Amino acid sequence: MHSKKALVFAVIGAALVVAAGSAASAQTRLYSPEAEQKAQALLKQMTLDEKVGQLNESSGIVMPGLGGKKPDELIARGGVGSILWLSDSKEINRLQHIALEKSRLHIPILFGFDVIHGYRTVFPVPLAMASSWDPSVEEQAQHLAAQDARAAGIEWTFTPMVDIAHDARWGRIVEGAGEDPYLGAAMARAQVHGFQGKQLGPDSVLVCVKHFAGYGAADGGRDYDSSYVPEELMHNVYLVPFHAAEQAGAGAFMSAYMDLNDVPASGNHWLLTDVLRKDWGFQGIVLSDAFAVGSLVTHGYAKDGEDAAYKAITAGLNMDMASLTYSQHLAQLVKDGKVSESYLDSMVLPILEAKYDLELFEHPYVDESKVDAMLTRPEGLTLERKVAARSMVLLRNENHALPLSKGLKKIAVIGPLADSTRDIEGGWTVEGLFGQGSKSHPVSVYAGIKDKLGPNAEVTLVSGPVPSRIYPGLLDQMAGRKMTPPPTAAETADWIAKTKAAAEDADLVIAVMGETAGMSSEAASRATLDLPGIQQQLLEAAVSTGKPVVLVLENGRPLDIRWASEHVPAILEAWYSGTEGGNAVADVLFGDVNPGGKLPVSWPQTAGAEPLFYNHNLTHEPEDRPGFTSRYWDISSKPLYPFGYGLSYTTFKYSDLRLSKNSIATDGSNEVSVNVTNTGSVAGDAVAQVYIHQRYGSASRPVRQLKGFERIALQPGETKTLKFSLGKDELQFWSPQSKEWVVEPSMFDVWAGGDSTASLHAEFSVTQ
Ligand code: BGC
Repeated sequence: MHSKKALVFAVIGAALVVAAGSAASAQTRLYSPEAEQKAQALLKQMTLDEKVGQLNESSGIVMPGLGGKKPDELIARGGVGSILWLSDSKEINRLQHIALEKSRLHIPILFGFDVIHGYRTVFPVPLAMASSWDPSVEEQAQHLAAQDARAAGIEWTFTPMVDIAHDARWGRIVEGAGEDPYLGAAMARAQVHGFQGKQLGPDSVLVCVKHFAGYGAADGGRDYDSSYVPEELMHNVYLVPFHAAEQAGAGAFMSAYMDLNDVPASGNHWLLTDVLRKDWGFQGIVLSDAFAVGSLVTHGYAKDGEDAAYKAITAGLNMDMASLTYSQHLAQLVKDGKVSESYLDSMVLPILEAKYDLELFEHPYVDESKVDAMLTRPEGLTLERKVAARSMVLLRNENHALPLSKGLKKIAVIGPLADSTRDIEGGWTVEGLFGQGSKSHPVSVYAGIKDKLGPNAEVTLVSGPVPSRIYPGLLDQMAGRKMTPPPTAAETADWIAKTKAAAEDADLVIAVMGETAGMSSEAASRATLDLPGIQQQLLEAAVSTGKPVVLVLENGRPLDIRWASEHVPAILEAWYSGTEGGNAVADVLFGDVNPGGKLPVSWPQTAGAEPLFYNHNLTHEPEDRPGFTSRYWDISSKPLYPFGYGLSYTTFKYSDLRLSKNSIATDGSNEVSVNVTNTGSVAGDAVAQVYIHQRYGSASRPVRQLKGFERIALQPGETKTLKFSLGKDELQFWSPQSKEWVVEPSMFDVWAGGDSTASLHAEFSVTQ
């Protein structure tokens, strides 16, 4: 991994800022000293209005409520620092020409977009990539996405989304790395490195780490709803991946929509200044989420637009995404002396610095003739197929139902998602979102299976009615998808009959079920986690024939699959697996790839079990005891599948867990080693996981916390010894009593194994 220091130019004399906080360290400047000098010089030439202009990110597309026109005039006046929501390179160039030729200081525009999981080659959704438990593969994917994006004119991506999610009802769980801060931090770092590279330059893309912070703790899992997160939970859980991204050199953060402990994140001084800038020493850009500065009025936090601009800028928010509130009010606030010009300068500076380091002044335009060739590079699709297969999680495999034989002659592929090319890529696809329309050619599961088996097998398709949301989803609307009414009783009976007939006629059924892409992601929360529409009925119809059935899930959150987990012998969680998704599913089903993905979330029995996460505290009556306990009366409060879980076509044994010391001092470190053996007959990947528990101290600590993992490939019979370090970074926590990061004298448990229920145990003490 690159260190933050590698990102910056190490030049003697660079300003040093001392960061406090959990990993207090001396930091060099985020942006290069050359960029700083140039930015300072440019700032001196700028008028007040031009400075305010740099703090405005305008919509590149015409949107109702945004004046109904393109931002051309505003750009010519120097009133736009950044443009978002444009993927058409021609239009990007057109607007850049206005900025460079018509605005007084010729400052290039920074073009931003949500390049979340690929550009034209769409990678698996982030929750899937986190399931790979392989940060290096996510880094490779995001690096390829960065190259594509930059070639197409996007220099800033609104990724990584590092929100911890404890509740599968929350639709945006699909965009992050799940429930765990340690895994989340690893995936956050990988994405920062993938996009930005070792240092910002003409080939890299600036990241925007979002949504700062606590967005995933929305009440009831309802998107945008308030979050109430005590300070200790912020520090110990929600802020951890953000801090990791910041330490990895992230150049920008995005403030969240919701209010955190009653103060909206986009006007929250504690978050944007006290934590981010003062504690962590962040020197980059804070961008609001879309319209979030204007929304400070809607929240009932700001009196009017002027107050919203005042509260956001003084909280530490540099740039206003799309609401034009800064454009309308900031200059007046400075003229009235409510915001000092030197403070305003400090808000503008990192935006100019980023533009210099990204070399926008030298390379402002897209070479339109090269875009398509770049976006269709075959290595993109090859990497996508690999990442997709690596991200899949085998949830159940009774009696070695999988892998399937390539000699199968008759297969029925069923379910409304089986041949859907629009759903397999999931939401947030750049070209699919606005304007241009998707130009990728996704492979459905049905197509992937047909291709794998070739002409010797008969593969029949019985789809089914596409499940619909009651309310059209944001992404559905953007993709122009109409809501369809649920099927009538007669239509349902007809689909069931067709499914049964196809199953009876086949040697094996592959049911592809889950959620349409628009059912996950923003404004896509659900109150139930059932298989939507009539999919459950179709699945039961197929199983009732007695034919072997394999369930392939295509979705962005854990679903209620209690029935399937008892009645369907094989279940593969494929998530929204991207452009080559269907091929990758076929690779796994037919054994060309042995699945090694693990769950980055605890899989609930049902929606009523949410929020659910493995790293909770012990109660005074732990669930395992008889009598009064913390469990539900009607279901087990244990997950259906635990965090870190996933099967393989082979088996692994963990043994010989050793610690280098029985006791360490609070500033010491202990080395854990464990042997992992492939005990089966095929090669496969294990993900060794190390968990700890602090038995007592100044606060109750979680029953288990992930503190180390590694994905390794093992040949049959092969054993590898893995080593993990438990030092300050792993043992410390933010104590609600002393209000600081502490390593406390205590006894610590250590477990190593293949998931969060691992039983191989050791212990050590930490002494003063
Ligand atoms: C989302 C952000 C996204 C932004 C720009 C908002 O609605 O919350 O995640 O980056 O739009 O598209």
